[in-house]
Amino acid sequence: MGISFNGRERVFRLDTPGSTYLINIVDEAGFLCHTYYGRRIPDDGMSYLLRINGEQLPFRSSGDQTGFLDELPMEYSWGGQGDFRESCLRLETEEGYRTCCLTYLSHKIYGGKPSLPGLPAAYGGEEDCATLELWCRDSCLGLEVCLLYTVFEKLDVICRSARIENRGEKTLRLTGALSACLDMDNRDFDLITLHGSWAYERMINRRPLSWGRQGAASKRGISSHQEQPFLALAEHDAGQDHGQVYAMHLVYSGNFLAQAEMSQQGLVRAVIGIHPEGFAWKLRPGESFQTPEAVQVYSHTGLDGMTHTLHDFYRNHLIRDPWRNRPRPSLVNNWEATYFDFDTEKLLDIARTAAQSGIEMLVLDDGWFGHRNRDDSSLGDWTVNEEKLPGGLKYLADEVNRLGLKFGLWVEPEMVSPDSALYRAHPDYALQVPGRPPMLSRNQLVLDFSRAEVRDCVYAQLHAVLSSASIAYVKWDMNRALTDVAGLDTDRQGELLHRYVLGLYDLQERLLRDFPDLLLENCASGGGRFDPGMLYYSPQIWTSDNTDAIDRLRIQEGTALLYPLSTMGAHVAACPSHTNGRVTPFATRALVSLPGCFGYELDLTQLKPEELAMIPGQLEDYRKYGPVFHDGDYYRLASCSENGEYDVLMAVSKDRRTAVIDYVHVMSRQRRRDVLLPLRGLAEEVRYRSSETGEVRSGAGWMYGGMLLPKMAGDFLGKLIVLEAV
Ligand code: DGJ
Repeated sequence: MGISFNGRERVFRLDTPGSTYLINIVDEAGFLCHTYYGRRIPDDGMSYLLRINGEQLPFRSSGDQTGFLDELPMEYSWGGQGDFRESCLRLETEEGYRTCCLTYLSHKIYGGKPSLPGLPAAYGGEEDCATLELWCRDSCLGLEVCLLYTVFEKLDVICRSARIENRGEKTLRLTGALSACLDMDNRDFDLITLHGSWAYERMINRRPLSWGRQGAASKRGISSHQEQPFLALAEHDAGQDHGQVYAMHLVYSGNFLAQAEMSQQGLVRAVIGIHPEGFAWKLRPGESFQTPEAVQVYSHTGLDGMTHTLHDFYRNHLIRDPWRNRPRPSLVNNWEATYFDFDTEKLLDIARTAAQSGIEMLVLDDGWFGHRNRDDSSLGDWTVNEEKLPGGLKYLADEVNRLGLKFGLWVEPEMVSPDSALYRAHPDYALQVPGRPPMLSRNQLVLDFSRAEVRDCVYAQLHAVLSSASIAYVKWDMNRALTDVAGLDTDRQGELLHRYVLGLYDLQERLLRDFPDLLLENCASGGGRFDPGMLYYSPQIWTSDNTDAIDRLRIQEGTALLYPLSTMGAHVAACPSHTNGRVTPFATRALVSLPGCFGYELDLTQLKPEELAMIPGQLEDYRKYGPVFHDGDYYRLASCSENGEYDVLMAVSKDRRTAVIDYVHVMSRQRRRDVLLPLRGLAEEVRYRSSETGEVRSGAGWMYGGMLLPKMAGDFLGKLIVLEAV
C-alpha cells in the first residue's frame, strides 16, 4: 500500500512509483503541514524542511503566532489567524465571523478509491490505489474537514479533494472550498498554463513564476476556451525530457481557480478548485460539501513525464467503459458541409459517398429540429423538422445504417431559444434576473440546470429522440457562457453555478445509464469545455471550431500536453478554410487530423476525384496507426509555434514495436543541411525500419543519432513516417 502513518515522527507518507509526498502533524495544536513532495525518498523524518525553530513551538504559547502561520507550508489553508496567503477554506458564521482554524482529528487508510457523490472522479480498485482520509476540525465551529488523498500504484498521481462537514449547531456559509493546496519552496519555477480564445484554444504559456498571485481562472460558468483548469510548476531548466514538474488539473467543468502565489521568503503556494468569486454555499448543521477532485502529478522526467502520466491516467482511470481504450469510429459531420441547409436527400448523398470511401459514421449536426434554419430559434424543442427530414430521424438513420454507416446526432440540451415552444411555455426555465432583460448570446439563453424539473423536461425530450432511431453517437454542444445567473432561493444565489454543473453531470450520467453503448462527444463552441470533468462522460471532445490544419497544429499541441490523442475530435475540413481562408492540401489536412478522433467535415460529394481517391488510404492509416496514436506514448518532437517551420509529433506503441511520426512541413526555407531530429521513446536495442527511406537502425541510433527530416519543396506539406521493429 502506497500510504502509511509513522506515529513517532507524526508523518503521513504517500508513495507513488517515482514520488514521495509527506504530511506532518505539527505542534500540540496539531496543524497539518506539507513537508515534502518530490522524487521518491525512503525517509520519514523530513520535518526540518518546515523550518520551525524551537522557540516557535508550541504555537499556542509562541509570542509571534501570526508570523508563524504565514510561513508554514500548510496542507489545506484557511484564513483569519495569520496565514495571509490564499485560503482553501473560506466561510462565514451566522454572526458574519470569518475566522477558522483546522487541526488534526483522525485518519483512516484503506485500499481502493471512493467515488465522489454527483461529481466525476477518477476510479481505481484495491489493486490500483490506496486512499487516506485525513480528518481535521475547527472545534469552535464544530466544523470537520476530510482531506482525501488517493495514491496510485503504477502512476505518479495523487488525487485530492476535500469534504467539509458542519457538525456544529449553527448554519455556516462556505464562501470558498478549494480542492487542493501545494506549499513548497520556490525552486526557480516556471509557471505553465494554457490560455486562448474561441477557435484558438489551449495555447501553452510558460513564464517565470513571479511575486504575488498568478495563474488561470474561469468565471464563465464553463471551463472555457480562454483558460484551462490546470497549472504546472516546472523547474526553470526543465525541458521536454528532463527536470522536475509539478502539475494540478481539476476534474471539473465550471468556474475554477488555478493559482500559484509566491510570497515572502520565496514560498510558493499552488491551489486549485472552484473559483471562490461568486461562490457561497449554505451548510446547515449535519450537511456537507464535497469539492471536485484535483489530479496532482509529479514528474522528474520533464514535460514528457507529466504528459505520459496524465495520458495513461485519463485513459485508464477516468474514461469509462465501454469506450475506455476502444477504437473511435471515423465519421463525416455535415456542419461545414451544409450548415443549416440540408434535407434527407443531401445527407444521404454524403452518406453514400462516405460508404463508398469506407467512413464508418454520418453525424447530423445542428438544424434538424423545430424550425431551425438559422441559429435564432428552436433550441429546447427537440422534435424533428419533417419538412427537412420527411420520415423523421428513423427513416434517415435506417437509410444510413442500410448503407453500412452508423448514425450520430447533434444536440444542445442546456439551451433555449426565446423563439421556442419551451420558452413560451416556461420562460422561468431560463437563467435570468427578475426584472432585468437577460443577455442573449448566439440568440439564446441558458436553461437553469440546477432545477430538477428543468432537467427532467429536457431529458424526457432527449430520451424520446434517442429512442426514436438507431443513434450511436451524440455530439452534446453548448454555445454560450453563463450570465444573468439567478434562481433558487434568494439566500442561495451563490450555489447556482455549482448546482448547474452538478445538474449537467446528472443529465449526462442519466444518458449513459439509459444508452450504455452511446459514444458521447462533448463540445462547447469548439473546445470551450475540454476539461477532465467532461472526459468522465465523453471519451472524446470536439477540440476547436478552428478546422484549419495549420492553426490546428498549435491547438492540438496544447491539448495533447494534457489529454490523450484519443480524446481530440479532429476532422479534415473544407478548403479554403472556413475559419481563416487558408488553402492547404487535402493530404496535409488528413495528416493533421490523423492522430485524433479522425473524421471529415466537408461535403464529400464536392471533392475532386483525386481527393476522394485518397480517403480509403487515409482511413487505412487511421485503422493501422490510430491505435498507436491513441494508446501509445506521445512525444512532442518539434513545435511549429517555436521554430516557425515544421511541426513533428511522434507516438510509440506500448510494446515499442511501432512508432509513427507525424511530420508537417509548414513553411519552406532554403537550407544547406537537412534538419536533424532526435527521436524519443524507442527501445535502444530494437532495430527499426523506416517507411520513408527503408533504413534499418537501432532505437539508440534513431534516438541519439537522430532522423533527417525529408526535404519538401513548398508550404503546408507533410508525411507520415512509420518505424517498424524488424
Ligand atoms: C458549435 C460547434 O463547435 C460546431 O461544431 C457546430 O456543431 C455548431 N456549434 C452548430 O451550431
